[in-house]
Amino acid sequence: MLATYDVEALRQDFPFLQTGVAYLDSANTSQRPRQVLEAMERYFTGFNANIHRSAYRASEQATEAYEGARDKVRAFLNAASRKEIIYTRGTTEGINLVAYSWGRQNIRAGDLIVLTIMEHHSNIVPWQILAREKGARLAYVDVDEQGLLRQDQFETLLQQGPRLVCFTQVSNTLGTINPYREMTASAKAAGATVLIDGAQGAPHLGIDVQETGCDFYAFSGHKICGPTGIGILYGRRELLEAMPPFMGGGDMIRAVRLYDTDYAPLPEKFEAGTQAIAEAIGLGAAIDYVQGVGLDAIHAHEQALAEYALEALSEVSGLRVFGPPASGRAGVISMWMDGIHPHDLSTILDRHDVNIRAGHNCTMPLMERLGVPATARASFYLYTTRKEIDRLVAGLEDAKRIFG
Ligand SMILES: Cc1ncc(COP(=O)(O)O)c(C=O)c1O
Repeated sequence: MLATYDVEALRQDFPFLQTGVAYLDSANTSQRPRQVLEAMERYFTGFNANIHRSAYRASEQATEAYEGARDKVRAFLNAASRKEIIYTRGTTEGINLVAYSWGRQNIRAGDLIVLTIMEHHSNIVPWQILAREKGARLAYVDVDEQGLLRQDQFETLLQQGPRLVCFTQVSNTLGTINPYREMTASAKAAGATVLIDGAQGAPHLGIDVQETGCDFYAFSGHKICGPTGIGILYGRRELLEAMPPFMGGGDMIRAVRLYDTDYAPLPEKFEAGTQAIAEAIGLGAAIDYVQGVGLDAIHAHEQALAEYALEALSEVSGLRVFGPPASGRAGVISMWMDGIHPHDLSTILDRHDVNIRAGHNCTMPLMERLGVPATARASFYLYTTRKEIDRLVAGLEDAKRIFG
């Protein structure tokens, strides 16, 4: 961890930030430091070859780098074994893998699946598809006025003995940090299998999957300073061993005969076809980078920014800000400005070189609950500065002037 948090020094690592844009859309996708770009380039230019298959040095080096990145992810999550770390294309694929493989084997008619109203579509739609197919039931935990999950409702639903409980570690719209350790413990005590969506949690808080006790944890490389097209599904070994493959093809087999196949052991059983090799190596470099800065330091930086931003935004008249106080949130702030659609707001901010997200943030049920069609969302990461938040506030004031 850095002795003091030097945000200006960190920013030098990020080529895109040198363009001068105030990039406030890191919950959507983060920027990547040159350390990640260089790790990928070293693969492409120095030992570009397929993995696991060939007996020449470049292929062995590629396999070593790809598997080495898996070891880094194992340590990052504190998983008990590297066999529990499955490469995916991202959070969405990780959740779908669980829904198609574990879900089809374990969910039966009448079973209850508990979700929350703040879930991203990728933690809703796969369960709807599964529930429809199996005749299972879905139930949602609501949020209170502050944007915190209604724990009383959660406890009531647990009393009904759900088979599966899925929730996000951090809300991508409200910024709410859910009490994921306590929720996991209660759900496990009620006999449920627990999946945590770590898309917004892994980059900003990290997790210790053994201490937390969850069964599945999914996150995306591109939100944690890594490349697109790569993600991780952590699954408890016992569950992964019992699950059928999600996809069939090369690399996931031990022996193929005309009418049946012996599958490869974990983790290859779930990694069919040529994998995103450069991206996995890039993810390993991203994890080194984030751990080098330190997750505690990143979280403290983002919370200080959230506090600063909430204070500054409270001065902007006509602006409604969603979500809990800074102490209970990550660096995500969703807003609604009276009389200005978020898309217009985003366009005007772009003229000020301020990039934010406008839309439903892939959380349409939550939008309905909040009573807005969309929000304007600013989100921060380890490289965000107070000056960028000042530019956001100035842009909002300008939008108000333009719209009268
Ligand atoms: C909470 C949450 N879950 C899941 C996802 C989906 O991630 P991906 O599109 O990388 O699969 C996102 C992306 O915005 C997210 O914020």
